[in-house]
Amino acid sequence: MATEIAACENGRTGLPGHVAVIMDGNGRWAERHGLPKYRGHEAGMDAMIGIVRHASDLGIRHLTVYAFSTENWKRGAEEVKGIFQLLLVYVRRELDELHRNNVKVDVFGDRGAFSKTVAAALGKTIEKTSKNTGLRFHICLNYGSRAEILAAAKAVCADAEAGRLGGYGPGLAGFDEEAFSEYLYSAGVPDPDLLIRPGGEKRISNFLLWQTAYSELVFSDVLWPDYTPRELDAAIEEYLSRKRRFGGRG
Ligand code: FPP
Repeated sequence: MATEIAACENGRTGLPGHVAVIMDGNGRWAERHGLPKYRGHEAGMDAMIGIVRHASDLGIRHLTVYAFSTENWKRGAEEVKGIFQLLLVYVRRELDELHRNNVKVDVFGDRGAFSKTVAAALGKTIEKTSKNTGLRFHICLNYGSRAEILAAAKAVCADAEAGRLGGYGPGLAGFDEEAFSEYLYSAGVPDPDLLIRPGGEKRISNFLLWQTAYSELVFSDVLWPDYTPRELDAAIEEYLSRKRRFGGRG
């Protein structure tokens, strides 16, 4: 099973091979500090930089962050603009360090809606880090899990209609979960072992619904901008104390 492979990938310690994070609480952090929302997202970006470094140092293979959902467009134009502005700041400022640290960056989400500037900056980041072999850092942008699954189902239908799935037998009898996974943004990436949600809310919010079927969930009341490597270590400790059974008896 993909999740078991991921857990073994690290070899050393049974650390989670893939950690996914819902970066929640930027707005409340800004409010508590009497600052505009933008400053909360800016502080969230700094927290993210710290967590990427730490995950890389720990030897975690995959880190996925939820940076902007398909539903986040409903926020005020000013806030949306601010988040994409920060994304530009992030990739321009951090690209060299990411590359030096052997981090490979990619994006999960529909990139069709991005401005030319954002698309170009992301394209450059993905291209420059494409051959790196360290941490794989997946940034979810304009990402929604239901939209991802629906798009995958449509792509399967299109391939079936075009006769490209003949190898799976009549009625696609041999087309299994692994084959379907290849149609998701996360194709080729093992499922998250650990899903972390800071910010006090206890919900999944349309994030990696397919991929987190057997992920261990860890919630924290710490607001994302205050989330430090120490919090990540504590979440990993909690993960390590869990017994994973994947529906079996363990
Ligand atoms: C949720 O907190 C956070 C977001 C919608 C944006 C996440 C963005 C960042 C961490 C900025 C850096 C990321 C990149 C890729 C540049 P919220 O605003 O919903 O918090 P609230 O629930 O307290 O309002």
